[in-house]
Amino acid sequence: MEYINLGKTELKISRIGLGAWQFGGDAWGGPYEYGVAKEVIAKAIELGINFIDTAAVYGRGRSEEFVGRAIKELGGIRDHVVIATKIPGDWHRYDDVLKAARRSRERLGVDVIDLLQLHWPACWHNVPICETMRAMERLVDDGVIRYIGVSNYPLQLLEAARSCLKKNDIVSSQNRYNLIERDVEKELLPYLQREGITLIAWSPLAKGAVTGKYSPENRPRGGDLRENEPVFYPDNLKEISTKLTPVIKELASKYGKTPAQIALNWLIMHGNVVPIPGAKNAAQVVENAGAAGWRLSEEDFRRLDEVSRSLVITYVTW
Ligand SMILES: NC(=O)c1ccc[n+]([C@@H]2O[C@H](COP(=O)([O-])OP(=O)(O)OC[C@H]3O[C@@H](n4cnc5c(N)ncnc54)[C@H](OP(=O)(O)O)[C@@H]3O)[C@@H](O)[C@H]2O)c1
Repeated sequence: MEYINLGKTELKISRIGLGAWQFGGDAWGGPYEYGVAKEVIAKAIELGINFIDTAAVYGRGRSEEFVGRAIKELGGIRDHVVIATKIPGDWHRYDDVLKAARRSRERLGVDVIDLLQLHWPACWHNVPICETMRAMERLVDDGVIRYIGVSNYPLQLLEAARSCLKKNDIVSSQNRYNLIERDVEKELLPYLQREGITLIAWSPLAKGAVTGKYSPENRPRGGDLRENEPVFYPDNLKEISTKLTPVIKELASKYGKTPAQIALNWLIMHGNVVPIPGAKNAAQVVENAGAAGWRLSEEDFRRLDEVSRSLVITYVTW
C-alpha cells in the first residue's frame, strides 16, 4: 500500500481508503451483518488500508458502531487506524456539534476521533458558518477530535469556514469524484491542490457504475439507493456502457487489472486525491486495495480522461 499525508498534517493515510456507508445496511439494500463488516475491516487492515470513513447518518449510527466494534475485537490496531466520521448538516448549531461529536465518539468506542467532517452544509438551518467552526475548534481543544474536515462544501463556503478558524485549518474536503462525475474539477480541486488540502473522493466507483457490470439491461436490483440514483438511469447507463466501459475494460486487460482498479488508479493520479471505495465483501476490498502500487501510463491516463470527458450525463431524470 502507498501512503500520503492527510492535508498538511503528519498523519499518513493509505492511498486507498475504505468507505463504511455499506455497513449501515438500510441504504444499500441491507441487511449487512456485523460479521461481514468485521471481515471487510480485517482484510482492509491486512492489506495496509488504514483510513476508514463512516458517518453518524449511515444506518443512524450502525456503521459507526460496526467500525468501532470491529477495531476493538480485531485487537491492537487502534493506533494504526485513522477513523473519519461526519456530522450531518442538520446538527451544525454550536451545542449540537458538541453533542453529535461526543455521541459519535461513544459509538466508535474511541478516545479521540481522528478526523471529524461536516457532512454537508447547514443548508436550510441558517446556522452561521463561524458558529459551527467555533464548535469544531472547541472539540479539538477538548481532545474529542484531532482534525477538522468538510464534505460537500462549495469553494466559497470552504473559504469562509477556513477564515473562521483561529488555531486550526481544514485538512480535507470530501466530495463526489469519479470518472463519470467530475464537477469537483471545475473550481474545487485546483484550490485544494494549491492549498494542500486532501480531496477525499466519495463514490469513487460511481457506486459501481464504472466497473462495467451495470448497463441499461442490467441495472442494480434489490431495493438499494441506486434505483433512484441519476447515474443509473437508463440514458446515463447507456452513455456509460457504450463509451466509457469498453475503454476501461480494454485498459484492464492491457494492465492485468480489473475495471475498478483502473478507475481508482485514474483518481489517485490526481495527486492529493484519496478515494474511499465502499465494499460489500472482503473480495471487493482486495480488489480495491490493488488499485495502488502502480500507475497507468500518461498516454492511457489521457485516453481515459478524454473518453470520460465526452460523456453526456444528466441529473434531470424526469
Ligand atoms: N460525504 C458524502 O456525502 C458521501 C456520499 C456518498 C458516499 N460517501 C462515502 O464514500 C464511500 C464510497 O462511496 P459509495 O459507497 O457511495 O460508492 P462507491 O465506493 O463508488 O461504490 C461502492 C459500491 O460499488 C461496488 N463495488 C465496490 N468495490 C467493487 C469492485 N472492486 N468491483 C466491483 N464493484 C465494486 C459495491 O456494490 P455492488 O457490488 O452492489 O455493485 C459497492 O457497494 C461511502 O462508503 C461513504 O463512506 C460519502
